Amino acid sequence: MATGNGTDAQGQQERWGSRAGFVLATAGSAVGLGNIWRFPSVAAESGGGAFVAVLLAVILLIGVPGLMAELALGRRARQNAVDAFLAIRPGSAWAWVGGLALLASFLVLSYYAVIAGWVLAYVAKAVAGSLRGLDATALGEVYTALAQHAWHPLAWQALFLALTAAVVMGGVRSGIEQCSRVLMPGLVVLLAVLAVRVLLLEGAGAGVVWFLRPHWEDVGGPTVLRALGQVFFSFGLGMGVMVTYGSYLDRGEDIHRSAVYVAVADTAVALLAGLVVIPALFAFGLPIEGGAGLLFVTLPAVLNQMPLSASLNLVFFVMLAIAALTSAISLLEALVAFARQRLGLARRTTTLLAAGLVFVAGVPSALAQGPHGVQVLGRDVLTLVDTATSEVLLPLAGLLTAVFVGWVWGAGPALAELRHGAGRFPERLWSASVRVIVPATVGVILAASLIGVR
Ligand code: PHE
Repeated sequence: MATGNGTDAQGQQERWGSRAGFVLATAGSAVGLGNIWRFPSVAAESGGGAFVAVLLAVILLIGVPGLMAELALGRRARQNAVDAFLAIRPGSAWAWVGGLALLASFLVLSYYAVIAGWVLAYVAKAVAGSLRGLDATALGEVYTALAQHAWHPLAWQALFLALTAAVVMGGVRSGIEQCSRVLMPGLVVLLAVLAVRVLLLEGAGAGVVWFLRPHWEDVGGPTVLRALGQVFFSFGLGMGVMVTYGSYLDRGEDIHRSAVYVAVADTAVALLAGLVVIPALFAFGLPIEGGAGLLFVTLPAVLNQMPLSASLNLVFFVMLAIAALTSAISLLEALVAFARQRLGLARRTTTLLAAGLVFVAGVPSALAQGPHGVQVLGRDVLTLVDTATSEVLLPLAGLLTAVFVGWVWGAGPALAELRHGAGRFPERLWSASVRVIVPATVGVILAASLIGVR
């Protein structure tokens, strides 16, 4: 599997089989739990339609150019997230930026797998029918019983990582790409089913209007920061993931066009999730919230009040499981690509090793709410790792990667790489973004979050 798919000088380079496969796998990475548990509530609280407008601007000026930069770096270097920097600047300390990005992937995957494990537990509950008819209070108890159990969260986390590892072991083309080709269309269908059901509710229309109405008075500095945070986490920038996925791309591939497709898919799913979550809460007069409470308590309770409720909860949790799996696959692949190159081990062995280490690192997050949970700096471990990665590590690694591409590799050579296989795209805007807009704005988020963390 490792060879035979087009081998290069390193002797182990794999390639995507088709553009559609690459776009679906990359969109699978972008579309994740973040689109469902974060975007709707953040958008509703931060100006509704006005937030969406700010988000679109951030996507165009920062998200798409950043995605293009990471994909181009990967394709040019044909290396994992660390060695890509070394391929362009041999022997330089820039490799540490790749190291930082992989540290971020490792940490994000460690707690992401815990939450995804809870999702699998809920898929099982929905199949068994044990969520049927429960109201919010009863569902709250179900959630607490799971999250606080001494070892159940560990078992579900292990199962989720085993599924992720099974796909990654299959390799780029027959594992990741094949799986994304099936799962991503499935996700869209399931989400569409939920959206249709919710939008047919009485009072849903008012919820849609309420969600999308632009409230410019709610827009300020923090709104832009939230939009930036959302785009970074959702596009998986500063995690070595897009550099790794880019390294499997053919020269003939249009990076600009693919990045636009991925951005459109990711944003469309987020908006569709918003059209499920907000009108549903609105129709039942519930407060708008995000996070675990939304996924595991409020939304299932709302779905339980609708006709066909048993199957709706199943649809919802299977959809979440798909979103989480395709994201986790990309995080694990970034780690595996690096470890394989450095350790010279087979894909299978490396994948098991990486997944095992991620599991161990996630144990404190899995036990965070249980009897063995510890509090660090006044937060539980899962929340702490989430905050530290998404507010500090990701922006830092993303900023440094943009600086590397824009100034060290240089906008000229990077543009030359982007032009391979591409039609016309706004080249000036791209260099302005990578050289100035990304470093300046992300520098501001970072400074703001560092001040906020204290
Ligand atoms: N983008 C995914 C989400 O929104 C998470 C993720 C982050 C995946 C970083 C890959 C890299 O949930």
